[in-house]
Amino acid sequence: MQLQNSIAIITGASKGLGAEISAALVQEGAIVYGIARGRENLEKLQVQLGSNFIPVPLDISDRQAVNNWVSDAFDTKTPQILINNAGIGAFARIDEMDAELWDQMLKVNLSGVYNITAPIVSKMRTDNKLSYIINIGSILGVTTRSEGAAYSVTKYGIQGFSESLMKELRGDRIKVTCLNTGSIETDFFENSGIQYHANMLQPKALAETIIFLLKTPDNFLIDELRIRPLDSRNPNK
Ligand SMILES: NC(=O)c1ccc[n+]([C@@H]2O[C@H](COP(=O)([O-])OP(=O)(O)OC[C@H]3O[C@@H](n4cnc5c(N)ncnc54)[C@H](OP(=O)(O)O)[C@@H]3O)[C@@H](O)[C@H]2O)c1
Repeated sequence: MQLQNSIAIITGASKGLGAEISAALVQEGAIVYGIARGRENLEKLQVQLGSNFIPVPLDISDRQAVNNWVSDAFDTKTPQILINNAGIGAFARIDEMDAELWDQMLKVNLSGVYNITAPIVSKMRTDNKLSYIINIGSILGVTTRSEGAAYSVTKYGIQGFSESLMKELRGDRIKVTCLNTGSIETDFFENSGIQYHANMLQPKALAETIIFLLKTPDNFLIDELRIRPLDSRNPNK
């Protein structure tokens, strides 16, 4: 699709993968609405990226606030790109998992994605232009690890959500891709208890892959993409 002057929404845009996708899309000439809860990081990013990056301080788990924002921001225009990237992760044995964290992960990683996707799809369908939704899943949405039950519930959920949407929307010229990635070098791991390793995926390289997806020919529909780092932990490999 044509990225120059296209309108994109990216959730979780203030840092990590979302910030790199925002930078890559602004570089391609898109107008990017970047969503995150914290205003400060979004505004810092706007200083770097310029006025084509529009900070949107918003909690995607707040359905009413999301609906109000979509109605206000897209009263007279429609985004062609939605990147559902915001997500949180906490890892613990099931009997030690903080129940609040369990609820919060479901609220952000699943309901948050629904909250923004539903009103945006409604606009895209009416607009009837080629549009693209990319959902950031995880390798933990196609296979599991111990102490990852809560996170995997959400990422397996996103995998199913994406596949169902793909079937529902392909007739409306709306592409849907679930990007299932392995470990990315971001702040995500700070509170997760998972160890960083030497060969994690770089957010910039993943952002370039997303640009590649968006630029595939109009009749291409890549519904799922898995990206894993080569494993450099084993010195014998
Ligand atoms: N890092 C990895 O190894 C890895 C691997 C596979 C998949 N993923 C997935 O990749 C995506 C991006 O992760 P990341 O590593 O870039 O994480 P990150 O560096 O922790 O960034 C998360 C972003 O999401 C925003 N966010 C969190 N909760 C939100 C909410 N309720 N409403 C709106 N924005 C919210 C954060 O900003 P605020 O805190 O200001 O809201 C931040 O901008 C996630 O879906 C994650 O599950 C990550």
